[in-house]
Amino acid sequence: MDIFDAGLLHGADYNYEQWLDQPAILDLDLASMNEAGINVLSVGIFSWSHLESAEGVYHFDWLDECFERLYRNGQRIILATPSGSKPAWLSEQYPEVCRVDADGRRQRHGGRHNHCRTSAKYREACVRINTKLAERYGTHPALILWHVSNEYNGDPCYCPQCLAAFRDWLKKRYTSLDALNAAWYTSFWSHRFTAWEQIFPDDASIHGLMLDWQRFTSDQTIDFFLAESAPLRRVTPDIPLTTNFQMPDIGLDYHTFARYVDVVSWDNYPVWHRYEDDTAVAVKAAFFHDLQRSYKNRPFLMMESSPSATNWQGVSKKKKPGMHLLSSIQAVAHGSGSVQYFQWRQSRGGVEKFHDAVITHIGDNKTRIFRDVAELGAVLQKLGGIAAAGNEAASDGEARAAVVYDFQNGWALDNAQLPRSVEKNYQEECIAHYGAFWRANIPCDVISPEYADFGRFRLIVFPLLYMMAEETAENIRRYVREGGAVVATYLTGIVNESDLCYLGGTPGGLTDVFGLAVEDTDSIAGYENQEFTFGGQTWRASHYADRVRLRGADTPGVFAGPETDALTGLPAVTAHRYGEGAAYYICARTGGTTGGTFDGTSGGTFGGTFGGTSGGTFDGTFNETFLDHFYRGLCEKHGLSPCVPGDIPPGVSVQKCGDALFVMNFNSAEAPVPLDESVYRDLLSGKPVCGTLVLSPYGAAILKK
Ligand code: GLA
Ligand code: ZN
Repeated sequence: MDIFDAGLLHGADYNYEQWLDQPAILDLDLASMNEAGINVLSVGIFSWSHLESAEGVYHFDWLDECFERLYRNGQRIILATPSGSKPAWLSEQYPEVCRVDADGRRQRHGGRHNHCRTSAKYREACVRINTKLAERYGTHPALILWHVSNEYNGDPCYCPQCLAAFRDWLKKRYTSLDALNAAWYTSFWSHRFTAWEQIFPDDASIHGLMLDWQRFTSDQTIDFFLAESAPLRRVTPDIPLTTNFQMPDIGLDYHTFARYVDVVSWDNYPVWHRYEDDTAVAVKAAFFHDLQRSYKNRPFLMMESSPSATNWQGVSKKKKPGMHLLSSIQAVAHGSGSVQYFQWRQSRGGVEKFHDAVITHIGDNKTRIFRDVAELGAVLQKLGGIAAAGNEAASDGEARAAVVYDFQNGWALDNAQLPRSVEKNYQEECIAHYGAFWRANIPCDVISPEYADFGRFRLIVFPLLYMMAEETAENIRRYVREGGAVVATYLTGIVNESDLCYLGGTPGGLTDVFGLAVEDTDSIAGYENQEFTFGGQTWRASHYADRVRLRGADTPGVFAGPETDALTGLPAVTAHRYGEGAAYYICARTGGTTGGTFDGTSGGTFGGTFGGTSGGTFDGTFNETFLDHFYRGLCEKHGLSPCVPGDIPPGVSVQKCGDALFVMNFNSAEAPVPLDESVYRDLLSGKPVCGTLVLSPYGAAILKK
């Protein structure tokens, strides 16, 4: 059975082994879980030292008991493999399981998420314990999903086994040292390699080397995942597999990783209430959710979230009234089949003892957090049917705008030493473009340039795709020729997949498609006031500006000073017909209109200055950014329409999920939302709604006709 068919999951990490000496508490848990509508628990995530106290000495009694009790209590189980944190005896016996730093120092045992991903001994040990788990629990009726390891990351390990594996990986990729030297451009600074053993991956002056090392580390993590999953696949072929992904900037190429899991899941920790305005946080969370859905073009699970605050975000505030329901519903609206928490019961000791949990140290069900969770549990039960429908809609290709987000491009761009190397802000820039669709309530996928089927979309945006593979360029050409619309920005198509610059003008291989060639990119300094005209208004440009030579494109936007520098009069926004489609190019990072109060730019520091309504001197009136203005026009032109026709107030997001509309108010003030003439029923309040829906601060409604 598909895991998304049985209604919405509501669950938590359950670290049962932390409470074995407190049977009364374990008893209490069961009743409270039912009260909170918790129907699934993730167990065993950090249990290795409880499961195997010395090599081959196993203790499954406590986990047997946990399984039985949860099952009899009506809960389903997601069982983790324990590789996220290794037992001390293992590191002591086989020091090679610990990572090594670039200077050759082996890390001491401790912490977590820090095993060597190549170590043969670690892989053996994982296969052994995972086989035992699969054999023992694989046929248990409560088991619905494997949670393989926990939050794999891309932190490097420079141990001899990893270095040897890297060199093998290079041999496979390049076959010969000549090919490698050419790809890495090693004639620069006399860096030619004459033996594979000379290659050590910490020379930041060889960009091809650094990029390949990051690619290897990501591939090797997937290889580790496959190795530890092999016994699960063999013993329990019918139990699906996931691993919980993190926020997408930890050194793994999740577009590739997602191809190897059955179900995508991720851990979502937005910094609600950290800033005065939560809208930018909501846009970022929406972007990440849509990225998860887009990995496989399927629903996903929100494997973790905090029921209120975290204890690792610098300043983390308790969720304000309404926010728990709102932020959880947001995940569902974007395609999540679950709302799950870290964790069920707040730990008594350890570094996470002040991280909120469903049950906190006070220990009862009277806390605001518990009541919020229980209230949500009741809602999720009601939504069972909707979720299935929504999940189908999420996967049927209804979203037809897409923003490309590419992990490897992020790495290449980070490595690049550009004339302007501060505030490159790749992720922020992608979110800024995505935000324009969010604000317009137009569904948007977040896709890979490599794997996505471009044909599903009407409009695809390639923000800052500095590294563009030759194959991607070919796919873009075909897509536009056949009628697609694309938008590219400054610094797009600068280098190929080997990080070698395209010659003859950029975007590489696509100058005829865009009807222009970029000559070079200038930096706009902080003190400068650069502007451009577009659509009868004047807008701010900042950070980067391309100097463009036209080769057939129109110029709806033109640099207009007021700085009298070399840009004035040059194209700032271009449009070009190619084949049956259209290619647009935005030559600079853009901000709002010059007349208003908003002076943020699209790609500024997250939470502070981007997004139109989130930054600087925002005074409550919506001050449109260039991107909002630009995409509104483009969407009309290319037949992409909002979920609802009316004028939706800023900070309110509407997502269509099957035949239901999720209407979400991320403002701390009440928001009136105009609807069409239909009579709706709000599934949350149970009340009929027509004309105008008035949402409370952080309020939400789920409307069905
Ligand atoms: C991560 C981990 C959890 C826990 C939470 C705390 O997502 O997977 O084990 O540490 O963070 O927010
Ligand atoms: Zn290693």
